[in-house]
Amino acid sequence: MTSTMGATTMKAAVYHRYGPPDVVQVESVAKPIPAANQVLIRVHAATVCAADWRLRKADPFLIRLMNGLLKPSKAKVLGMEFAGTVELLGSGATNYRVGDQVFGSTGFKFGTHAEYVCAMEDSLSLKPGNTTLEDASAVLFGGITALYFLRKGGIAAGQKILIYGASGSVGVYAVQLAKHFGAHVTAVCSTGNLELVKSLGADEVVDYTREDFSAAGRVYDMVFDTVGCSGFTRSLKCLKRGGPYVRVGGSGSPGAMLAGIFAAQWAAMTGAAKVIGGITKGSAEDQEFLKSLMEAGQLKAVIDRRYSLDQIAEAHRYVEAGHKKGNVVILLETARPQM
Ligand SMILES: NC(=O)c1ccc[n+]([C@@H]2O[C@H](COP(=O)([O-])OP(=O)(O)OC[C@H]3O[C@@H](n4cnc5c(N)ncnc54)[C@H](OP(=O)(O)O)[C@@H]3O)[C@@H](O)[C@H]2O)c1
Repeated sequence: MTSTMGATTMKAAVYHRYGPPDVVQVESVAKPIPAANQVLIRVHAATVCAADWRLRKADPFLIRLMNGLLKPSKAKVLGMEFAGTVELLGSGATNYRVGDQVFGSTGFKFGTHAEYVCAMEDSLSLKPGNTTLEDASAVLFGGITALYFLRKGGIAAGQKILIYGASGSVGVYAVQLAKHFGAHVTAVCSTGNLELVKSLGADEVVDYTREDFSAAGRVYDMVFDTVGCSGFTRSLKCLKRGGPYVRVGGSGSPGAMLAGIFAAQWAAMTGAAKVIGGITKGSAEDQEFLKSLMEAGQLKAVIDRRYSLDQIAEAHRYVEAGHKKGNVVILLETARPQM
């Protein structure tokens, strides 16, 4: 069913059990009603990110503690990031007007793979004037994560930083942000992505399919691993003694997590490195900061593929394969033409 402004139902990508991409199906569901201080947004674009396939698959297993042990019981409509048009204001919501073009993230509430989503008004920003809604929808998951972990690692001008996994959604924004902060960036990715990361500002590139980044004898002030594949020994080999080894991603398996904890303890005890990990904590200020960089032309969205809502399972399949360039975006059919 196609939604209209007065309709009480909408199309959404829903999953009722954990499993492969095909468990996500488009269904007609109740259109959300904005609560106090919330805004109803007609979604124009939303990304499919790593968090979406991890929740859909319950990988790692710990996700079941958050979203239902046997089946998804909290977030049944996935999707974190979005951009769209304000359609209705909840009571007390005064920051936006109907028709405003906004972007934001619902975080662990998810729900953006739908024609409409409700969000707290203080979690929104007006779309940067010089970008499309599609581009605006794509920067927050990777951008906020990259910003949070670069700052946690103590990013500073003049530093030499190695960014491993530089072409994914965290990587493409980490490269641009590290350059913004004045660092010298060596980006590690596969052959097909070398030109992309150079175009984003990387000073040097390493093709991990042909070269071991730790073999060249270079020493970095920070090693920033977005995917968790750089390897502890190799990373410490090229990290200055006691420097930050930032691990954003990883398999999340109990074995890998345990090994990571032991390695971090050992590195701290011996003073070999400061191992940094954890979960991203973003803020409204971070979102406005990324918006200002987009407006200044210093941060650009990277979109690999676009899918319709009906192609949601295909999009999940592609994202889960782990080799997307930047972002994958779902474009909603009923969204208004862009202004
Ligand atoms: N800690 C947190 O709060 C937090 C927040 C966000 C994301 N994450 C996690 O961070 C990870 C990355 O997220 P993302 O959104 O950037 O993922 P993504 O967009 O899927 O990108 C993954 C990138 O990893 C590269 N890659 C895949 N296999 C590789 C390998 N064996 N060696 C080197 N590079 C490899 C790919 O590049 P090539 O195609 O060139 O191989 C791809 O560009 C995910 O595990 C996600 O769950 C954690």
